[in-house]
Amino acid sequence: MAESAPPAPAKTQLPQKSVQELVINGEELPENYIRKDGDRGILDVPLVEIPVVDLGLLASSSTSGEELEKLRSALSSWGCFQATNHGVTLPFLDKVREVTKQFFALPMEEKRKYAREAGGIEGYGNDMILSEQQILDWTDRLYLTLNPEDQRKLKYWPEIPEDFRQVYSLQTWDILHEYTIKLEMITAAVLKAMARSLNLEDNCFLDQCGKRPTVTARFNYYPKCPRPELVHGVKPHADASAITVLLQDEVEGLQLQKDDQWFRVPTIPQAFLINAGDLVEIMSNGIFKSPVHKVVTNSERERTSLAVFYLAEPEEEIQPVDSLVTESRPRLYKKVKNYVDIYFQYYQLGKRPIEAVKI
Ligand code: OGA
Ligand code: NI
Repeated sequence: MAESAPPAPAKTQLPQKSVQELVINGEELPENYIRKDGDRGILDVPLVEIPVVDLGLLASSSTSGEELEKLRSALSSWGCFQATNHGVTLPFLDKVREVTKQFFALPMEEKRKYAREAGGIEGYGNDMILSEQQILDWTDRLYLTLNPEDQRKLKYWPEIPEDFRQVYSLQTWDILHEYTIKLEMITAAVLKAMARSLNLEDNCFLDQCGKRPTVTARFNYYPKCPRPELVHGVKPHADASAITVLLQDEVEGLQLQKDDQWFRVPTIPQAFLINAGDLVEIMSNGIFKSPVHKVVTNSERERTSLAVFYLAEPEEEIQPVDSLVTESRPRLYKKVKNYVDIYFQYYQLGKRPIEAVKI
């Protein structure tokens, strides 16, 4: 692995302004946000009905057969599914959506208290500028480590909005803590069901991720953009995770690529959109797809989302499960650890990181 790794990225520096400030100030689109690819008419692509999987049915042995097959089929074709009946109530999901919106609506001085530091990853900010040619995404983010708990950097966890605290007698990070615990259960159940759907041991994907898997949260804010066709909300990418759990608001924007065609992903208020990431594609020896996706902005409405990435423990080795390597399905991926490091290096070079581990 080491000899094929690309050079380390240039020293990081913070961009001058958040995307939100560019919008508030009514500035011209800065050159470094304008896409150079020729892809136009981007908002006008077909809507796709992503398969809906009932997690409650998956859990019970009498009803799981058909649902497992739905899960397997969704992940091997689209690489994602809409998860319903997951045990988190709609009012709680709405609360998480609300606090996300309220955070990004805070005055800039307040948000800057949580600003990412130069060279760091966690905190509030927009794209790190790593090279002069880089095209920036039309988004501001708050990026936090949720697990392992002793790695949380609470100085970046917002303490407001106040009304949120009054209603629930909790601080923002208490809501986030509760959300983390709920997602721990959901991600474990989904990773087990994924294994079962391939007739594997329940824990074979979970075990590879280690005893202390890293779980991170990315709160995404996509301000309205006067010229949405000229920018990316988020550039096309696949996730570095084993799986990602996305909570969308009611504004569409996510698009998914399948067979070189882009599709709009609908938003379902009570559902999580769960997608396979590169680690699951590797562990399943390519049976489950880590889908390429992107976010498109619009000029009418801002959009927020919350992506939670279930990653492996950095030092754990990830590789295709033995029994999924057969004569008719040869091994597609090498062993890999510290995938997140490889991921960012390749991503910045505009390459698909999973290429780095293909045999
Ligand atoms: C991501 C991502 C999608 C969205 O954060 O990796 O793909 O809808 N987000 O914000
Ligand atoms: Ni993503």
